[in-house]
Amino acid sequence: MTIFHRAIPIFVLAGILFLAVPATSHGPAEHKEGTHADHEVAMKSQHERMANFKEAAEMLADAIIHNAPKLAHDGAEKLDRSLDGHEKDMPHKNRARVKEFHRLYVELGKRTGNLKAAIKADDLPRSAVAYGRILEICAACHRKFRD
Ligand code: HEC
Repeated sequence: MTIFHRAIPIFVLAGILFLAVPATSHGPAEHKEGTHADHEVAMKSQHERMANFKEAAEMLADAIIHNAPKLAHDGAEKLDRSLDGHEKDMPHKNRARVKEFHRLYVELGKRTGNLKAAIKADDLPRSAVAYGRILEICAACHRKFRD
């Protein structure tokens, strides 16, 4: 009887430890902000932005390869417009680094400005370099923030 009584708290303690270990391994967990609906809307516009980026990047690649200034101009304009409203985007992972995430969009905007200047000067080789500098930012953000 006495052994039985002492055994129970030990089992309880073991049980608590067992449960506590996997619970703490989740760490401080993600802090979700805003409602689920807000999140859905923001994610939808972020997906659309990426689809537009991709289309613009393809237009630009074609334009540079085929020496087509009009298409290059349209691609650069599309890229520029696609950046509108990026302030509401949110990375799916590394959320604590959201400032860095938005800095990459701002840098993308600057490099798009350089590309537009090269296209305006009708300098496709320089445009090709400016385009490469843009892809650098796409790749940097995907490496850090895409899941
Ligand atoms: C500031 C960060 C950031 C930049 C810059 C960025 N992307 Fe993305 N991209 C993402 C994230 C995050 C995803 C993952 C899915 C999502 O949120 O749409 C993604 C996904 C994508 C996808 C997959 C489609 C999808 O919706 O999942 C494509 C295509 C894409 N990006 C193209 C581009 C191109 C082209 C550029 C450069 C012109 C670019 N991205 C620049 C963050 C970025």
